[in-house]
Amino acid sequence: MTMRLTHLRLVQFRNHRHTDLTPAPGVTLFVGENAQGKSSLLEAVQVAATGRSFRARHDAEMIALGEEWARVRAAVERGDRVEEIDVALRREEGGALPRAGREMRVNGVPVRRGELFGHLRCVLAAPDDAEVVTGPPHRRRRMLDLLLAQISPAYYYAAQRYVRVLTQRNRLLRVRGRGIEAWDEQVATLGAALTARRGDYVARLSTLAEAIYAELCRGREVLRVAYLPSLRGEKETAMVTWAREALLRSRSEEAARGVTLVGPHRDDLLLLVDGRDLRAYGSRGQHLTAMLALRLAERRVLLEETGEEPVLLLDDVLLTLDEARQAYLLAGVRQAQALITVTSAAVAGLPAGAAVYRVRAGQVEGERAHLS
Ligand SMILES: Nc1ncnc2c1ncn2[C@@H]1O[C@H](COP(=O)(O)OP(=O)(O)O)[C@@H](O)[C@H]1O
Ligand SMILES: [Mg+2]
Repeated sequence: MTMRLTHLRLVQFRNHRHTDLTPAPGVTLFVGENAQGKSSLLEAVQVAATGRSFRARHDAEMIALGEEWARVRAAVERGDRVEEIDVALRREEGGALPRAGREMRVNGVPVRRGELFGHLRCVLAAPDDAEVVTGPPHRRRRMLDLLLAQISPAYYYAAQRYVRVLTQRNRLLRVRGRGIEAWDEQVATLGAALTARRGDYVARLSTLAEAIYAELCRGREVLRVAYLPSLRGEKETAMVTWAREALLRSRSEEAARGVTLVGPHRDDLLLLVDGRDLRAYGSRGQHLTAMLALRLAERRVLLEETGEEPVLLLDDVLLTLDEARQAYLLAGVRQAQALITVTSAAVAGLPAGAAVYRVRAGQVEGERAHLS
């Protein structure tokens, strides 16, 4: 089955006052100079798909300046069904940070974030997002969590439960309260479940990402991706036992620091190029290639797990590749729907049937079918 984004509407979203557009079933190219509103379009798709943006630290940033609310609507076609996703952001007063309330609906019915997942799936690659490679470990954990949540909402709920458990346990550590054992048990069991799931998917993700990286650099370099879990053990049951013991061992240090030191909130991914730590030694180009390989690998995992191609969002990455790699990338996603931003329409190997839009000052103009 295919899943297609058939309509997108942005209202008072960043510099878009009101934008309506119809993406092509295959490739849609958004061409425009910098700061015209291209990335905002992809951001809006991600907000509709996952409730969150890849670049906004606070939801309120996405509301057009001077306005009180913003809205994103997406129509998604699946077989003979069409679903409407609607996300509204509303500015909230109070506090030092800009805040916004978020209201999400699917077919008019209010949903929580966990229920939003799966109606529209997407994978986004952007230079801004190279932090997934170069940034702190939580960026890589977030990547895994978002991938797994898009595959199974049950994972998202388990991760949320884990965060609540962690918050409670940390509070107890700080006030040196009683009854920490009950929380240890929860950290161990919930933590092991999350670790096992992450482990399964990293194994698949890394194989794919390593192969894609080799393609992108024509075999000149070798990427290796490995999971660095906090909890050790082959099977989930062994992880639970390991976690119980590790929590006991670190009890006094935890009490001193007031934080839990064992569990999947301490996981990371190891990224090596030719055996060297990519974070510390990689060039900007290698960081971007690794980011792209990871995101394209995610797309494959989502396809294999769900049987549906996620919408591929490529923000400013296509023209960083030479012509042969642009063609390789476009050929590899021929079955997928892709929304691609570029600063110049000189794209190699743009498939027939692609739609090309021009983006200028928050307005999207003039679709034309690409003829070639
Ligand atoms: N909340 C906002 N309200 C109004 N304008 C915004 C808001 N956030 C960002 N902008 C502006 O929107 C423009 C578009 O940003 P962006 O989508 O990143 O452009 P592009 O990807 O084309 O470079 C920028 O000029 C930016 O200053
Ligand atoms: Mg941009």
